[in-house]
Amino acid sequence: MPHTASSHHRTERLDQDHDGIRRAARLLRQGALVAFGTETVYGLGGLATSQRTVERIFKAKGRPSFNPLISHFASADAAFAEADMAIPLHDMARRLAQRFWPGPLTLILPRHAKSRIAQAVTAGLETLAVRVPKGRAVEDLLRLAGAPIAAPSANRSGRVSPSTARHVLDELEGRIDAVLDTGPCAVGLESTVLDLSGSHPILRRPGGVTLEELQEICGPIIVADHAGAADGTSHPNAPGQLSSHYAPSLPVRLDATHAQPDEAFLTFGDTQAETVSSSLTLNLSPDGNVEEAARRLFASLRQLDQSASRQGLVGIAVAPLPDAGLGRALKDRLKRAAAPRPTDSAAPPT
Ligand code: TXA
Ligand code: MG
Repeated sequence: MPHTASSHHRTERLDQDHDGIRRAARLLRQGALVAFGTETVYGLGGLATSQRTVERIFKAKGRPSFNPLISHFASADAAFAEADMAIPLHDMARRLAQRFWPGPLTLILPRHAKSRIAQAVTAGLETLAVRVPKGRAVEDLLRLAGAPIAAPSANRSGRVSPSTARHVLDELEGRIDAVLDTGPCAVGLESTVLDLSGSHPILRRPGGVTLEELQEICGPIIVADHAGAADGTSHPNAPGQLSSHYAPSLPVRLDATHAQPDEAFLTFGDTQAETVSSSLTLNLSPDGNVEEAARRLFASLRQLDQSASRQGLVGIAVAPLPDAGLGRALKDRLKRAAAPRPTDSAAPPT
């Protein structure tokens, strides 16, 4: 009975061929936890309509229950069917969907009164996060599953997001029923979260679709401060925006022009020889290509973290990165990785 697997079961590995995708879809329909790759990062999927399954997602991740999940759909029609579209920004939502779905954009919309999405998904909020992800395997999977699939990033809460099936297994082996190996993720950073539930669009999390691209369709967009202080509540609107997140175990130092002898160095672009002072240096993109840097960020952080600890280094220095376009999302994730960590006893904020 794979759907009742607990921490003592082995996690099934599935290939992204016809049989693997069908098996993954069947498991999802039965209420199992199945991780799969999207164009952004790997998600830890489960039936969004099953309160019990969704509770298992939170448990497997060690995620605090107040942090809501994104529901994934095979089509914009299916996504909008769960939302109350009698809202001021309904037309903007449809145009964004037309332009960017399938793709790395999540929309926050008011929840439809008759939505079948389980309460645990939205953590008691009146709004719903919906997205139609891109990728041959994930698109087939969602079509075959035929139901909304809730999927946070498939990492332990507060840790670096996974961009390969290996990363998923490193943290969740035995805690989830299966992983569909869809290869490395094409974008490498999570989806952009755009809140359309009010009278003006609000950027809650920078991600794979850039602010500039969104502005072409939306016009001016309010950029939410960290931790969703925009709504004045103590619980953030996008808790992924809380300070410490995407955290490797070594401290991260941003905008570093040099690494200290006891630091690993994560660089970007053409690096002059004298600045490469560390024995452990990784370049996110020697050509200064921000898309390439995005694809490699999370894997690089994991790799540096492991090698640095082995070599007795005490931190990770990160070179300056571009501010615009995808650079905004890259810097956002790095800033979070650099933020002070909650102590182990405090609830981590993912
Ligand atoms: O690219 C992605 O979005 C990946 C892939 C797997 O789809 N998923 C992902 O999920 O990044 P997660 O759970 O790691 O991040 C979801 C973000 C969180 O910051 C959460 O607070 C926010 O979306 N969110 C979810 N529902 C929300 C809601 N109703 N209102 C505001 N923010 C919401
Ligand atoms: Mg996450």
